[in-house]
Amino acid sequence: MSADRLRLDDHIAALDAPEGLKAVLSVVAATCAQISDVVAGGALAGALGASGQINVQDEEQKKLDVMTDDMLTQALLACPAIAGVASEEKDEAEIGTNAAGEYLALFDPLDGSSNIDINAPVGTIVSVLKSPSATPTQGDFLQPGRQQVAALYAVYGPQTMLVLTTGDGVRGFTLSNDGQWFLTHDAIAISPDTKEFAINVSNQRHWAEPVQRYVQALLQGEEGPRAKNFNMRWVAAMVADVHRILMRGGVFFYPWDRREPNKPGKLRLMYEGNPMAFLIEQAGGKATTDGVQAILDVPPTQLHQRIPVALGSANEIDAFAGA
Ligand code: AHG
Ligand code: MN
Ligand code: MN
Repeated sequence: MSADRLRLDDHIAALDAPEGLKAVLSVVAATCAQISDVVAGGALAGALGASGQINVQDEEQKKLDVMTDDMLTQALLACPAIAGVASEEKDEAEIGTNAAGEYLALFDPLDGSSNIDINAPVGTIVSVLKSPSATPTQGDFLQPGRQQVAALYAVYGPQTMLVLTTGDGVRGFTLSNDGQWFLTHDAIAISPDTKEFAINVSNQRHWAEPVQRYVQALLQGEEGPRAKNFNMRWVAAMVADVHRILMRGGVFFYPWDRREPNKPGKLRLMYEGNPMAFLIEQAGGKATTDGVQAILDVPPTQLHQRIPVALGSANEIDAFAGA
């Protein structure tokens, strides 16, 4: 069934990329396959429930947040091409001890934590940057997303898939029962038009006026100014919502809102915004903060910086910008 399919290992080996980057991607793919086993084991793998700890984002960590963070951190720091790692779950970036380290990996080890205990999709998101030296500073991690050399996510759903870009389009690989990744989705492209949107409507009363106007018009459907009916989906795991958009189009929003006016949004630039924006742009979609400003051009000021997110089908993001 998969004999004639391209293996991820062979795809990585054939990339027009430095050997160090290939090594980093191989380590991430192998670790995501291991995480998939732990996720699938659920209660049997001791993977459900809270850890009892609070992370730097002031969020209660689940056991799986901690387990996956440890797995990725250890595997990446053991890779000779890695100079340092930064995780959503840790206060500061960790600098490695590899004399030939040339890459930085930044990750959300477990995206969609609230889904773990209900057996709904979760994921892992990874961004890879060049390191200016083998002994990077904390500031060396603060590079705009445009400088990423690779971005990928793994989604642990009915199938485990790994979706990767190295700046040459987007490809999706599916994990087989014996732990091998095979190319199943080549040249992934996002349709420019869509009838599907994703936003957490429970925050509606907190949104700014343009977001209110835009969503109101979608909800009015054929009777409203858009003269078209829209459908809505919200998985509560950005990985799964972005995966749906890569597969069949759509738009996803996590806008700024008034709940905590000093926080620019919920999602994190370095672990969620930038890697997803790289994948979305490479698939022909738009990834912005407000419909116009590209996420990839936002200059980072802090490792755990948050940003508003509006991404997906290009024409629909333009419609949002015009609302
Ligand atoms: P994480 O589990 O890494 O903290 O990320 C969860 C994020 C994102 O994946 C998702 O789209 C969003 O939070 C869901 O937020 P709500 O709970 O407000 O719906
Ligand atoms: Mn997340
Ligand atoms: Mn997370």
